[in-house]
Amino acid sequence: MKAILLAGGKGTRLRPLTIHTPKPIVPIFNRPFLHYQLDLLKRVPEIDEVILSLNYQPRRIEEIFGDGSDAGISIRYVVEPAPLGTAGAVKYAGDRLTESVVVFNGDVLTQIDLAAVIALHRERRARATIVLTPVENPAAYGLVETDAGGNVTRFLEKPTPEEITTNHVNAGIYVLEPDTFDRIPSEVAWSIERSYFPSLVERGETFVAYVYDGYWIDIGTPEKYARVHRDIMDGRYAAAPFAGLAAPRMAVAPEARIEDGARVEGPCFIDEGVLVKAGARVLPYSVIGRQTQIEEDATIDAAIVWPNCRVSRDAVVKDAILGRNCHVGRSVTVNGGAVLGDKTTLTDYTRA
Ligand code: GDD
Ligand code: MG
Repeated sequence: MKAILLAGGKGTRLRPLTIHTPKPIVPIFNRPFLHYQLDLLKRVPEIDEVILSLNYQPRRIEEIFGDGSDAGISIRYVVEPAPLGTAGAVKYAGDRLTESVVVFNGDVLTQIDLAAVIALHRERRARATIVLTPVENPAAYGLVETDAGGNVTRFLEKPTPEEITTNHVNAGIYVLEPDTFDRIPSEVAWSIERSYFPSLVERGETFVAYVYDGYWIDIGTPEKYARVHRDIMDGRYAAAPFAGLAAPRMAVAPEARIEDGARVEGPCFIDEGVLVKAGARVLPYSVIGRQTQIEEDATIDAAIVWPNCRVSRDAVVKDAILGRNCHVGRSVTVNGGAVLGDKTTLTDYTRA
Protein backbone atom coordinates (compact mmCIF):
# COMPACT_ATOMS: atom_id res chain seq x y z
CA MET A 1 0.00 0.00 0.00
CA LYS A 2 1.23 3.51 -0.82
CA ALA A 3 0.81 6.79 1.02
CA ILE A 4 0.83 10.16 -0.72
CA LEU A 5 2.06 13.03 1.40
CA LEU A 6 0.86 16.36 0.08
CA ALA A 7 3.73 18.68 0.79
CA GLY A 8 3.74 21.10 -2.11
CA GLY A 9 2.18 24.13 -0.48
CA LYS A 10 4.18 27.34 -0.16
CA GLY A 11 3.58 27.66 3.58
CA THR A 12 2.56 31.30 3.12
CA ARG A 13 1.08 31.63 6.60
CA LEU A 14 4.37 30.51 8.12
CA ARG A 15 6.36 33.21 6.33
CA PRO A 16 9.00 34.40 6.79
CA LEU A 17 10.13 31.05 8.27
CA THR A 18 9.23 29.23 5.05
CA ILE A 19 11.11 31.55 2.67
CA HIS A 20 14.25 29.42 2.85
CA THR A 21 12.76 26.39 4.59
CA PRO A 22 9.75 24.70 2.97
CA LYS A 23 7.04 23.87 5.51
CA PRO A 24 7.60 20.09 5.45
CA ILE A 25 11.09 20.57 6.83
CA VAL A 26 10.67 23.37 9.34
CA PRO A 27 12.32 22.00 12.47
CA ILE A 28 10.32 20.77 15.42
CA PHE A 29 13.08 20.98 18.03
CA ASN A 30 15.94 19.57 15.91
CA ARG A 31 14.01 17.31 13.52
CA PRO A 32 12.41 18.31 10.22
CA PHE A 33 8.64 18.14 10.62
CA LEU A 34 8.16 15.43 7.98
CA HIS A 35 9.97 12.94 10.21
CA TYR A 36 7.02 12.96 12.59
CA GLN A 37 4.65 12.06 9.77
CA LEU A 38 6.93 9.35 8.45
CA ASP A 39 7.06 7.90 11.96
CA LEU A 40 3.27 7.64 11.94
CA LEU A 41 3.13 6.06 8.49
CA LYS A 42 5.84 3.58 9.47
CA ARG A 43 3.57 2.19 12.16
CA VAL A 44 1.42 0.65 9.42
CA PRO A 45 3.54 -2.25 8.13
CA GLU A 46 1.36 -2.51 5.05
CA ILE A 47 2.51 0.93 3.83
CA ASP A 48 5.65 0.13 1.86
CA GLU A 49 6.24 3.43 0.10
CA VAL A 50 5.63 7.11 0.72
CA ILE A 51 5.16 9.31 -2.32
CA LEU A 52 6.12 12.88 -1.49
CA SER A 53 4.13 15.24 -3.65
CA LEU A 54 6.12 18.44 -3.94
CA ASN A 55 6.55 21.58 -5.94
CA TYR A 56 7.94 24.29 -3.63
CA GLN A 57 11.72 23.91 -3.10
CA PRO A 58 11.64 20.14 -3.69
CA ARG A 59 15.44 19.76 -3.77
CA ARG A 60 15.82 20.95 -0.19
CA ILE A 61 13.46 18.22 0.92
CA GLU A 62 15.01 15.52 -1.24
CA GLU A 63 18.46 16.36 0.11
CA ILE A 64 17.30 15.60 3.62
CA PHE A 65 15.32 12.42 3.09
CA GLY A 66 16.93 10.83 0.05
CA ASP A 67 15.44 7.44 -0.71
CA GLY A 68 14.17 7.17 2.85
CA SER A 69 16.68 4.64 4.10
CA ASP A 70 17.65 6.82 7.09
CA ALA A 71 14.01 7.44 7.94
CA GLY A 72 13.29 3.73 7.60
CA ILE A 73 10.64 3.87 4.89
CA SER A 74 10.98 3.95 1.13
CA ILE A 75 10.36 7.44 -0.31
CA ARG A 76 9.60 8.46 -3.89
CA TYR A 77 9.38 12.08 -5.04
CA VAL A 78 6.86 13.43 -7.47
CA VAL A 79 7.35 17.07 -8.40
CA GLU A 80 4.51 18.80 -10.22
CA PRO A 81 5.51 21.06 -13.09
CA ALA A 82 3.21 23.69 -11.55
CA PRO A 83 1.03 23.58 -8.43
CA LEU A 84 -1.93 21.37 -9.32
CA GLY A 85 -3.96 21.90 -6.15
CA THR A 86 -4.62 19.16 -3.65
CA ALA A 87 -6.66 16.91 -5.96
CA GLY A 88 -4.48 17.53 -9.01
CA ALA A 89 -1.44 16.62 -6.93
CA VAL A 90 -3.02 13.37 -5.74
CA LYS A 91 -3.92 12.40 -9.28
CA TYR A 92 -0.49 13.34 -10.59
CA ALA A 93 1.30 11.41 -7.84
CA GLY A 94 -1.07 8.46 -7.80
CA ASP A 95 -1.50 8.12 -11.52
CA ARG A 96 -0.67 4.46 -11.80
CA LEU A 97 -2.12 3.27 -8.51
CA THR A 98 -4.68 0.51 -8.53
CA GLU A 99 -5.20 -0.16 -4.83
CA SER A 100 -6.46 1.99 -1.94
CA VAL A 101 -4.10 4.82 -1.11
CA VAL A 102 -3.55 6.81 2.08
CA VAL A 103 -3.36 10.57 1.53
CA PHE A 104 -1.98 12.87 4.18
CA ASN A 105 -1.71 16.67 4.36
CA GLY A 106 1.95 17.47 4.86
CA ASP A 107 1.40 19.79 7.80
CA VAL A 108 -0.59 17.80 10.35
CA LEU A 109 0.78 16.29 13.51
CA THR A 110 -1.32 13.60 15.11
CA GLN A 111 -1.19 10.27 16.86
CA ILE A 112 -4.05 8.68 15.00
CA ASP A 113 -4.18 4.91 14.53
CA LEU A 114 -3.98 4.83 10.74
CA ALA A 115 -4.45 1.08 10.57
CA ALA A 116 -7.89 1.53 12.16
CA VAL A 117 -8.85 4.10 9.50
CA ILE A 118 -7.78 1.70 6.75
CA ALA A 119 -9.75 -1.10 8.43
CA LEU A 120 -12.92 1.02 8.53
CA HIS A 121 -12.46 1.93 4.87
CA ARG A 122 -12.35 -1.75 3.95
CA GLU A 123 -15.15 -2.80 6.25
CA ARG A 124 -17.45 -0.18 4.77
CA ARG A 125 -16.21 -0.86 1.23
CA ALA A 126 -15.86 2.90 0.93
CA ARG A 127 -14.80 4.85 -2.13
CA ALA A 128 -13.28 7.38 0.23
CA THR A 129 -12.75 7.59 3.98
CA ILE A 130 -11.90 10.85 5.70
CA VAL A 131 -10.65 11.51 9.22
CA LEU A 132 -12.54 14.20 11.12
CA THR A 133 -11.38 16.02 14.20
CA PRO A 134 -13.23 18.44 16.47
CA VAL A 135 -11.88 22.01 16.58
CA GLU A 136 -13.05 25.16 18.33
CA ASN A 137 -13.36 27.26 15.20
CA PRO A 138 -13.90 25.41 11.92
CA ALA A 139 -13.54 28.59 9.81
CA ALA A 140 -9.93 27.82 8.85
CA TYR A 141 -10.67 24.23 7.89
CA GLY A 142 -12.95 22.02 5.81
CA LEU A 143 -16.26 21.57 7.62
CA VAL A 144 -17.71 18.08 7.32
CA GLU A 145 -21.29 17.06 8.14
CA THR A 146 -22.16 13.42 8.63
CA ASP A 147 -25.31 11.33 9.16
CA ALA A 148 -26.03 8.88 11.96
CA GLY A 149 -24.39 6.08 9.96
CA GLY A 150 -21.06 7.91 9.75
CA ASN A 151 -21.45 8.88 6.09
CA VAL A 152 -20.32 12.29 4.87
CA THR A 153 -23.31 14.35 3.77
CA ARG A 154 -21.60 17.69 3.16
CA PHE A 155 -18.08 19.04 2.71
CA LEU A 156 -17.61 22.78 2.93
CA GLU A 157 -14.10 24.22 2.74
CA LYS A 158 -13.42 27.35 4.85
CA PRO A 159 -17.02 27.99 5.95
CA THR A 160 -18.17 31.51 6.83
CA PRO A 161 -19.37 31.99 10.43
CA GLU A 162 -23.04 31.58 9.37
CA GLU A 163 -22.22 28.31 7.61
CA ILE A 164 -20.79 26.60 10.70
CA THR A 165 -23.09 23.73 11.66
CA THR A 166 -20.66 21.35 13.36
CA ASN A 167 -17.21 21.49 14.94
CA HIS A 168 -16.04 18.46 12.98
CA VAL A 169 -13.47 19.32 10.36
CA ASN A 170 -11.34 17.56 7.82
CA ALA A 171 -8.15 16.39 9.55
CA GLY A 172 -6.32 16.12 6.20
CA ILE A 173 -6.05 12.31 6.28
CA TYR A 174 -7.85 10.14 3.77
CA VAL A 175 -8.03 6.65 2.30
CA LEU A 176 -9.07 6.86 -1.35
CA GLU A 177 -9.87 4.48 -4.19
CA PRO A 178 -7.82 5.48 -7.25
CA ASP A 179 -10.67 4.72 -9.65
CA THR A 180 -12.36 7.85 -8.29
CA PHE A 181 -9.54 10.00 -9.68
CA ASP A 182 -11.09 9.95 -13.14
CA ARG A 183 -13.17 13.01 -12.23
CA ILE A 184 -10.02 15.07 -11.59
CA PRO A 185 -8.80 16.87 -14.71
CA SER A 186 -5.12 16.33 -15.49
CA GLU A 187 -3.77 19.65 -16.59
CA VAL A 188 -5.42 22.22 -14.34
CA ALA A 189 -5.30 22.94 -10.61
CA TRP A 190 -8.10 21.10 -8.83
CA SER A 191 -8.99 21.03 -5.16
CA ILE A 192 -9.73 17.87 -3.25
CA GLU A 193 -11.66 19.94 -0.71
CA ARG A 194 -13.65 22.22 -3.01
CA SER A 195 -14.32 19.85 -5.91
CA TYR A 196 -13.43 16.19 -5.37
CA PHE A 197 -15.12 15.63 -1.98
CA PRO A 198 -18.28 17.60 -2.84
CA SER A 199 -18.55 15.52 -6.03
CA LEU A 200 -18.46 12.26 -4.03
CA VAL A 201 -21.35 13.58 -1.91
CA GLU A 202 -23.28 14.78 -4.95
CA ARG A 203 -23.00 11.41 -6.66
CA GLY A 204 -23.99 9.55 -3.50
CA GLU A 205 -20.82 7.46 -3.37
CA THR A 206 -19.80 5.65 -0.17
CA PHE A 207 -17.87 8.39 1.58
CA VAL A 208 -17.19 7.47 5.19
CA ALA A 209 -16.04 9.51 8.20
CA TYR A 210 -13.67 8.34 10.93
CA VAL A 211 -13.88 10.63 13.94
CA TYR A 212 -10.67 11.09 15.92
CA ASP A 213 -10.55 13.19 19.04
CA GLY A 214 -6.96 12.56 20.15
CA TYR A 215 -4.02 14.86 19.51
CA TRP A 216 -4.24 16.68 16.19
CA ILE A 217 -2.87 20.01 15.02
CA ASP A 218 -1.81 21.56 11.74
CA ILE A 219 1.38 23.58 11.96
CA GLY A 220 0.31 26.10 9.31
CA THR A 221 0.71 29.30 11.38
CA PRO A 222 3.48 30.59 13.67
CA GLU A 223 1.11 30.41 16.62
CA LYS A 224 0.40 26.72 15.99
CA TYR A 225 4.01 25.99 15.16
CA ALA A 226 4.90 27.33 18.62
CA ARG A 227 2.05 25.42 20.22
CA VAL A 228 3.36 22.09 18.86
CA HIS A 229 6.60 22.68 20.73
CA ARG A 230 4.76 23.51 23.91
CA ASP A 231 2.55 20.43 23.59
CA ILE A 232 5.57 18.15 23.16
CA MET A 233 7.38 19.78 26.10
CA ASP A 234 4.25 19.33 28.22
CA GLY A 235 3.85 15.71 27.15
CA ARG A 236 0.50 16.25 25.41
CA TYR A 237 2.15 14.74 22.34
CA ALA A 238 4.74 12.09 23.13
CA ALA A 239 7.93 12.62 21.14
CA ALA A 240 11.68 12.52 21.61
CA PRO A 241 13.47 13.94 23.49
CA PHE A 242 10.64 14.74 25.91
CA ALA A 243 8.77 11.43 25.98
CA GLY A 244 9.44 9.92 29.40
CA LEU A 245 11.65 12.83 30.51
CA ALA A 246 11.21 13.64 34.19
CA ALA A 247 10.36 17.12 35.50
CA PRO A 248 11.63 19.81 35.05
CA ARG A 249 11.83 18.37 31.53
CA MET A 250 15.06 19.96 30.39
CA ALA A 251 16.35 18.46 27.17
CA VAL A 252 19.87 19.84 27.08
CA ALA A 253 22.33 18.27 24.65
CA PRO A 254 25.51 17.04 26.33
CA GLU A 255 27.49 19.11 23.82
CA ALA A 256 25.78 22.36 24.88
CA ARG A 257 27.67 24.70 27.19
CA ILE A 258 25.83 26.38 30.01
CA GLU A 259 28.24 28.68 31.88
CA ASP A 260 28.21 28.99 35.64
CA GLY A 261 25.84 31.73 36.67
CA ALA A 262 23.45 31.14 33.76
CA ARG A 263 19.91 30.13 34.69
CA VAL A 264 18.04 27.47 32.74
CA GLU A 265 14.49 26.47 33.64
CA GLY A 266 12.47 23.62 32.21
CA PRO A 267 10.67 22.65 30.24
CA CYS A 268 13.10 23.68 27.54
CA PHE A 269 15.23 22.38 24.69
CA ILE A 270 18.87 23.30 24.14
CA ASP A 271 20.61 21.68 21.20
CA GLU A 272 24.24 20.74 20.64
CA GLY A 273 26.82 23.46 20.26
CA VAL A 274 24.68 26.05 22.06
CA LEU A 275 26.45 28.43 24.41
CA VAL A 276 24.55 30.08 27.24
CA LYS A 277 26.80 32.62 28.91
CA ALA A 278 26.98 33.65 32.56
CA GLY A 279 24.04 35.69 33.74
CA ALA A 280 21.85 34.69 30.81
CA ARG A 281 18.40 33.23 31.51
CA VAL A 282 16.64 30.56 29.50
CA LEU A 283 13.07 30.48 30.83
CA PRO A 284 10.39 27.77 30.43
CA TYR A 285 9.17 26.78 26.96
CA SER A 286 12.30 28.02 25.23
CA VAL A 287 13.82 26.13 22.31
CA ILE A 288 17.38 26.92 21.26
CA GLY A 289 18.76 25.47 18.05
CA ARG A 290 22.26 24.22 17.27
CA GLN A 291 25.26 26.54 17.64
CA THR A 292 23.19 29.47 18.86
CA GLN A 293 24.82 31.78 21.41
CA ILE A 294 23.00 33.48 24.22
CA GLU A 295 25.28 36.13 25.64
CA GLU A 296 25.69 37.57 29.13
CA ASP A 297 22.47 38.65 30.88
CA ALA A 298 20.29 38.00 27.81
CA THR A 299 16.87 36.42 28.38
CA ILE A 300 15.11 33.85 26.24
CA ASP A 301 11.56 33.46 27.47
CA ALA A 302 9.22 30.97 25.79
CA ALA A 303 10.84 31.72 22.44
CA ILE A 304 11.97 29.45 19.63
CA VAL A 305 15.40 30.27 18.25
CA TRP A 306 16.64 28.36 15.20
CA PRO A 307 20.28 27.34 14.73
CA ASN A 308 23.26 29.69 14.41
CA CYS A 309 21.72 32.77 15.97
CA ARG A 310 23.36 35.19 18.34
CA VAL A 311 21.41 36.94 21.05
CA SER A 312 23.63 39.65 22.49
CA ARG A 313 24.07 40.93 26.03
CA ASP A 314 21.00 42.17 27.90
CA ALA A 315 18.66 41.39 25.00
CA VAL A 316 15.21 39.94 25.74
CA VAL A 317 13.52 37.56 23.31
CA LYS A 318 10.07 36.69 24.57
CA ASP A 319 7.28 34.66 22.91
CA ALA A 320 8.95 35.07 19.53
CA ILE A 321 10.34 32.85 16.77
CA LEU A 322 13.75 33.56 15.24
CA GLY A 323 14.83 31.97 11.96
CA ARG A 324 18.37 30.78 11.27
CA ASN A 325 21.43 33.01 11.52
CA CYS A 326 19.67 35.92 13.19
CA HIS A 327 21.60 38.46 15.16
CA VAL A 328 19.79 40.19 17.98
CA GLY A 329 21.90 43.13 19.12
CA ARG A 330 22.67 44.35 22.58
CA SER A 331 19.76 45.34 24.85
CA VAL A 332 17.25 44.64 22.06
CA THR A 333 13.74 43.62 23.06
CA VAL A 334 11.86 41.24 20.74
CA ASN A 335 8.37 40.77 22.01
CA GLY A 336 5.28 38.59 21.84
CA GLY A 337 4.34 37.20 18.45
CA ALA A 338 7.36 38.48 16.52
CA VAL A 339 8.62 36.15 13.79
CA LEU A 340 12.04 37.00 12.36
CA GLY A 341 13.13 35.54 9.03
CA ASP A 342 16.55 33.96 8.52
CA LYS A 343 19.51 36.34 8.80
CA THR A 344 17.58 39.17 10.41
CA THR A 345 19.85 41.60 12.19
CA LEU A 346 18.47 43.85 14.88
CA THR A 347 20.78 46.74 15.67
CA ASP A 348 21.73 47.28 19.32
CA TYR A 349 18.95 48.84 21.41
CA THR A 350 16.18 48.06 18.85
CA ARG A 351 12.71 47.51 20.32
CA ALA A 352 10.66 45.33 18.00
N1 GDD B 1 1.68 18.87 -4.13
C1 GDD B 1 0.87 19.86 -3.76
N2 GDD B 1 0.38 20.70 -4.72
N3 GDD B 1 0.57 20.01 -2.46
C2 GDD B 1 -0.26 21.04 -2.12
C3 GDD B 1 -0.79 21.94 -3.06
C4 GDD B 1 -0.44 21.75 -4.45
O1 GDD B 1 -0.85 22.49 -5.35
N4 GDD B 1 -1.57 22.84 -2.39
C5 GDD B 1 -1.51 22.50 -1.10
N5 GDD B 1 -0.72 21.41 -0.92
C6 GDD B 1 -0.43 20.71 0.33
C7 GDD B 1 0.13 21.63 1.41
O2 GDD B 1 1.55 21.56 1.41
C8 GDD B 1 -0.43 21.02 2.68
O3 GDD B 1 0.39 19.99 3.20
C9 GDD B 1 -1.72 20.38 2.23
O4 GDD B 1 -1.65 20.25 0.81
C10 GDD B 1 -2.96 21.22 2.63
O5 GDD B 1 -2.78 22.53 2.18
P1 GDD B 1 -2.88 23.78 3.18
O6 GDD B 1 -2.55 24.99 2.40
O7 GDD B 1 -2.13 23.52 4.42
O8 GDD B 1 -4.44 23.79 3.44
P2 GDD B 1 -5.24 24.29 4.73
O9 GDD B 1 -4.48 24.02 5.97
O10 GDD B 1 -5.73 25.67 4.47
O11 GDD B 1 -6.54 23.32 4.69
C11 GDD B 1 -6.41 21.94 4.49
O12 GDD B 1 -6.06 21.29 5.70
C12 GDD B 1 -7.03 21.38 6.76
C13 GDD B 1 -6.50 20.57 7.92
O13 GDD B 1 -5.29 21.06 8.33
C14 GDD B 1 -7.75 21.39 3.97
O14 GDD B 1 -7.54 20.05 3.62
C15 GDD B 1 -8.85 21.52 5.03
O15 GDD B 1 -10.04 20.93 4.56
C16 GDD B 1 -8.40 20.83 6.30
O16 GDD B 1 -9.38 21.00 7.33
MG1 MG C 1 -2.63 23.44 6.46
